Amino acid sequence: MKVLIGGGSGFIGQSLSKLLNSRGHKVTIVSRRPGKGRITWEDVSKIGLPPCDAAVNLAGENVLNPLKRWTEKFKQEVISSRIETTRTLTQAISKSPNPPQSWILVTGVGYYPPSQTHQYSEESPGGDADFLSRLVRDWEQVAELSPSNSKSSTQLVRVRSGVVLGRDGGALPSMLWPFRLCLGGPIGSGNQPFPWIHIEDLCRLLCQCIEQGGCSEAILNAVSPSSVKDTNSNFTQALSRALGRPAILPVPALAVKALFGEDRAPMLLEGQRVAPQRTLQSGFTFLYPDLNSALADLLR
Ligand SMILES: NC(=O)c1ccc[n+]([C@@H]2O[C@H](COP(=O)([O-])OP(=O)(O)OC[C@H]3O[C@@H](n4cnc5c(N)ncnc54)[C@H](OP(=O)(O)O)[C@@H]3O)[C@@H](O)[C@H]2O)c1
Repeated sequence: MKVLIGGGSGFIGQSLSKLLNSRGHKVTIVSRRPGKGRITWEDVSKIGLPPCDAAVNLAGENVLNPLKRWTEKFKQEVISSRIETTRTLTQAISKSPNPPQSWILVTGVGYYPPSQTHQYSEESPGGDADFLSRLVRDWEQVAELSPSNSKSSTQLVRVRSGVVLGRDGGALPSMLWPFRLCLGGPIGSGNQPFPWIHIEDLCRLLCQCIEQGGCSEAILNAVSPSSVKDTNSNFTQALSRALGRPAILPVPALAVKALFGEDRAPMLLEGQRVAPQRTLQSGFTFLYPDLNSALADLLR
């Protein structure tokens, strides 16, 4: 199959491309920069969608980059890097004479309101709790194909991901050095839910959607089954055990607020208990259903 991946040069995109290539699929990346195996966003806007069986969007400025201050300019970049790239692909799919079977948008479980007690499935309402949930709501709305424009039965699948744990990117590598120096510990109270997924499981789930030409479900929560009960403290303890290092130094909430700012601090200090209900109903099986199995693999 031919697969087009917006933002495919990043952390998730590189793993997904590797998996797709190993399964005999041909990947083209949409990027801000031209290169081998790539087209640019400008190409898609001007020339239209290249022939493909599936389109995926993974483009987005890293929200939790601690080196970027939370200025109005950076906030707009976080928003537009998701909304405008998604809009470009949605419009190109709508106008394409041969649209793909599936259109897969990877967003986040930040759609659901942060809570230590509520448990969410794909059916739960959300999208109006804070900056992140409103961003996910708007981002997913932009991906909708208007029935009058879309000449085909392209299926939109919104994949709401938890924190993606992998060796080569995302949150985990930057957490390892404080733990290795025995400076690790829970963030804030540590009681906040910690929804997560192993990168390999996320890419296998995306691959399943691509190969099945969509999914029987329009929304999938991409979180491990243990995410309904995992907290930041559980994660800290599991990481501490896996590394054989103590994790007793909590990161104070005030420090997180000072470093990340009002809109971003809740992403670390609060969380959502999320179940992958429809993901499991779709027949997907997780290779890494709990933190111990995931960390044992990632820290091998
Ligand atoms: N990683 C996670 O834990 C996680 C969890 C939930 C949801 N997600 C979502 O999944 C998507 C992919 O995540 P990722 O970790 O793979 O992201 P990533 O590696 O940080 O970035 C993916 C790609 O986005 C493009 N990009 C970055 N800044 C951009 C900008 N200002 N404008 C346009 N494109 C830009 C880059 O491609 P080019 O440089 O080639 O243009 C980059 O390779 C993101 O939308 C993210 O919000 C990630």
